Amino acid sequence: MKKFATAIITLGAVGALTLSGCSSSDRDDTTAEGTESAAAGFAADSTIGVALPQKTSENWVLAEQLFNDGLKEAGFSPIVQFANSGVPEQQNQISAMVEQDAKVIVVGAIDGSQLGTQLGAAKDAGATVIAYDRLVKNTDAVDQYIAFDNYQVGVLQGTALLEGLAKRQGAGPWNIELVAGSADDANATPFFEGAMSVLQPKIDDKTLTVVSGQTDFDAVQTAGWKAENVQKRFDTILSANYSDGTVLHGVLSPNDTLARGVLTSVKQAGLPTPVITGQDSEVESVQSIMAGEQYSTIYKDTRELVAATIDAIKAYQKGEKPEINDTESYDNGVKVVPSYLLTPVIVTKDNAAEVYANDPTLAPLTK
Ligand code: BGC
Repeated sequence: MKKFATAIITLGAVGALTLSGCSSSDRDDTTAEGTESAAAGFAADSTIGVALPQKTSENWVLAEQLFNDGLKEAGFSPIVQFANSGVPEQQNQISAMVEQDAKVIVVGAIDGSQLGTQLGAAKDAGATVIAYDRLVKNTDAVDQYIAFDNYQVGVLQGTALLEGLAKRQGAGPWNIELVAGSADDANATPFFEGAMSVLQPKIDDKTLTVVSGQTDFDAVQTAGWKAENVQKRFDTILSANYSDGTVLHGVLSPNDTLARGVLTSVKQAGLPTPVITGQDSEVESVQSIMAGEQYSTIYKDTRELVAATIDAIKAYQKGEKPEINDTESYDNGVKVVPSYLLTPVIVTKDNAAEVYANDPTLAPLTK
């Protein structure tokens, strides 16, 4: 997956532009102009369904509240639900939203490849489907993807790890370990691939050594994004590879929850804190960064992501096309999903105050 710099294209309902990669959808209505979309519009007080995954990080919890408030404020009737018990629950929730005549279904998938049937039924019922934060895979029943650029998140994490090692661990070569997210989450792969695009050349030239030898995605993934799972894996890795004085200099972690799981394991083993990356700007991790412990995180302002999604819903409501700024990067196996990608920001102790300046929760932590 590559990141392409693309100009922002706003597709008006009357525009003659056709999105590349959209032609494979046969479910969408085709307007007289030949553009893809169910662009007929719908009532301003329609039901909007938002299917969220499990509460695996703070961003999802925040999204629930922002969707409820923002959709109500825009005049819609929101149904916002978590699927804490897993995929079947999320499938049932989406089917129920369709039955309740939801005009747009926003989905943050637990498993992006297991919703084809339910989203297909949503499209057949005339709903618009937006993949939110996580791509929906192997189905043409998705109109749009709205997310922070996941591959770029990984690139920033890999870059921060190298930078942190140079700053805090003296001259290389350095010993590192790798962590990836949950394999069922479509984001876990681009995060890892983005990071490895930076780290693999340094592993190849021996600047970095992965002492455990665990470098494949399957070996380093963390089921359910659960801290306890990565902690168990690290307990084993540390006792097998680092109990003889070998120093663990750095860890690639895909998010803050898992970074904290790794740090717990490292502390329990009595080893010095490695340079470790993260993502999500969770309160506990921002505090850890300010205390000089966790090295970096990523800021993906959930307020921005939810606002962009509500803007898209408003456009669909009026029968207009939403804003799209990438038509090449996110191929879901059936089609390249037209995307609106936001820019993630890397955060370390050095720029935290500046990056979080307008965030009422995080700004005070940097004072
Ligand atoms: C999100 C991350 C989050 C992870 C676990 C991913 O899909 O993009 O921000 O850390 O899920 O909740």
